[in-house]
Amino acid sequence: MTNADEDDVGLDSLAASFGAIWETARDRSVNTAFRARYAFRWLLDVLEAGLDGDLAECGVYRGGFSYMLARAIVLAKASKRVHLFDSFVGLPEVGQKDRAWYRQGQFRETDGLKDEVERYFEDQGMSTVVRIHAGWFADTFRAIPADQRFCFVHFDGDLYSSTRQCFESIYPRLVAGGVLVLDDFFTVSSGLREAVREHLRGSGELLFAGPEEAVCLVKGRTPGPSDEPYLLDPAATDGFPVSMEAVAGDEDYFRSILEKGANRLTIPVIREQIERLSSQVSGFKTMLGYHEKVLEWSTGRTAGRGPRQACHARWDLKTEDRARALSPRAKSTLVSRMAEVSAATQFAFGVLIVPTLGGDSIKAVMGEAFQSWQLGDRGVLIAIAIRERDSRIQTGPSGRRVLGDDDAARILRESLDPHLARGDFVGGLTATATAIQAILESIE
Ligand SMILES: C[S@@+](CC[C@H](N)C(=O)[O-])C[C@H]1O[C@@H](n2cnc3c(N)ncnc32)[C@H](O)[C@@H]1O
Repeated sequence: MTNADEDDVGLDSLAASFGAIWETARDRSVNTAFRARYAFRWLLDVLEAGLDGDLAECGVYRGGFSYMLARAIVLAKASKRVHLFDSFVGLPEVGQKDRAWYRQGQFRETDGLKDEVERYFEDQGMSTVVRIHAGWFADTFRAIPADQRFCFVHFDGDLYSSTRQCFESIYPRLVAGGVLVLDDFFTVSSGLREAVREHLRGSGELLFAGPEEAVCLVKGRTPGPSDEPYLLDPAATDGFPVSMEAVAGDEDYFRSILEKGANRLTIPVIREQIERLSSQVSGFKTMLGYHEKVLEWSTGRTAGRGPRQACHARWDLKTEDRARALSPRAKSTLVSRMAEVSAATQFAFGVLIVPTLGGDSIKAVMGEAFQSWQLGDRGVLIAIAIRERDSRIQTGPSGRRVLGDDDAARILRESLDPHLARGDFVGGLTATATAIQAILESIE
């Protein structure tokens, strides 16, 4: 890492630092560069969105992956900490669902693992960035202060019981739009998969398939109107969106991977299995398409930042504050509120604040953002131009059917303007989104 890297805290330069960070971390992690890069990339999204809350890794082992997270927030100069949860004496008692693949005490390498990890972060000059919570999840999760929030969590605790504990105690502390990356979903052992499935049944959230075994959830992110069709193809799921159970639950598939001695979902492995099993499982072809895309952007030394579509730009986070009118906290509050309104209405919401229109019409400036953000048929964009004191609401065709120009003008007059007069952007935008929500919810 050069001094120039240290000084330049832009997220693009952080993306470019991935290779150097992982080079240091990899010897202390059982994860691969693919999965690390996948998590890193989601972390960049979270940092860019300015979400509130700390980071956590549940299942730390020797601390390499946690180091990667900590290094990223140091370079981003984010005032966040990374919470490290692990027994540091290996896996707890292994239940029935996981017994075939895991055993109690697995990952207990030395007696002093906790001290070793602590020393490692001291040596890296990062002991103040991390907070180590040693003990069983059942105890350490319970001891987390009530006001603790997370914006990014990497779960790598392998077992059904440990995953359940994460959904019960950590997930409720994840802010809206926050990210949970889970390892070991696409593996021969089905315990973790089952715990994720149970959560999805309740939440209806999307599950993003990552490279190899990794998957990701974005808190509150249910299927949106602009989701790519293969993500929502019922043939690839067992009825609830993107559970991928058609693939993940297929024991033959996993057994065949295991027989090959390659417990990894890489493109060649998937391709080979498709040849053999495509007549039985129709979801494989769509899965391959997805994995090819993910692997495409997860190769190389940098984490990369585009194209956004490849990592499924999140409609709840299309909040661009070119005027820097929002503090990070205000932006995070706004993003959370927009995520709630988007989830409730199933409309994609965006907010654009520009310092000036620079001679263009607000309609033209918005039109460009509406298109490049792919807000689409069920999109809603609220824009504010500060110097011109102009504001406007633009909707796609579905919204236009119920929200006419007069409604939009009334909402801006009654809900936005009084707040803007006091300089309260978040209050105004939140009230505006709520008023729009009331109208959109009248759509059958
Ligand atoms: C696969 S290892 C983690 C690997 C690490 N993230 C890396 O990248 O190298 C799983 C870890 O989860 C921890 N673990 C699993 N369930 C746990 C529980 N219920 N309480 C505490 N630690 C747990 C184990 O001690 C083990 O260190």
